[in-house]
Amino acid sequence: MNIEEMKKIAAKEALKFIEDDMVIGLGTGSTTAYFIRLLGDMIKKGEVSDIVGVPTSYQSRLLAIESGIPVATLDQVDAIDVAVDGADEVDPNLNLIKGRGAALTMEKIIESRAGMFIVLVDERKLVDYLCQKMPVPIEVIPQAWRAIVEELSIFNAEAKLRMGVNKDGPVITDNGNFIIDAKFPRIDDPLDMEIELNTIPGVVENGIFADIADIVIVGTKEGVKTLER
Ligand code: 5RP
Repeated sequence: MNIEEMKKIAAKEALKFIEDDMVIGLGTGSTTAYFIRLLGDMIKKGEVSDIVGVPTSYQSRLLAIESGIPVATLDQVDAIDVAVDGADEVDPNLNLIKGRGAALTMEKIIESRAGMFIVLVDERKLVDYLCQKMPVPIEVIPQAWRAIVEELSIFNAEAKLRMGVNKDGPVITDNGNFIIDAKFPRIDDPLDMEIELNTIPGVVENGIFADIADIVIVGTKEGVKTLER
């Protein structure tokens, strides 16, 4: 099984948690894109009804509309029943790093409010500790980026401003901010680090998602595996 197939079987497994009348947080990224398309197919076939999707980014909003999923913003719904999203790293306690797609702030706002947060990954994303392979993305107020990069050196982080691809200059988030990618030596206490990073003035949100995932569905070469907290 290749990586795309692993992502797809994880996405398919998540459909088992979807019921009529649900408000669903729609994450960002290539794995969640499979879920959004499959959810759209379910709606078209009449297998589920009265679904509302709350997208976490322009990417997921456009894809949800294209897939025939009715969408709303967070302030238009009373509650989020379930949220489904990908991740860049998952540690053994199901703490996450997210934000490669620069959508971490809306993802955290929506997913922290969900009745159930389901994470979809392929087996490459499982790590022994956070920051083993990937940096922590940090959304920052543009003017503050240099001061924050300097401040991150206290944590021995290698931090750099994320630059655009097919765009000159830095990546601009859906909220009009910059992203700093900070590679820490390792993160032993994700909750503590998540809180600490958010106390730096100018930081809008960071990509450590500690103690928030309820279920992680992993696509592996052998099939799908479900991890629960
Ligand atoms: C976007 C994210 C993504 O969910 C994460 O980067 C995983 O993406 P993919 O499924 O494409 O590997 O956090 O901000």
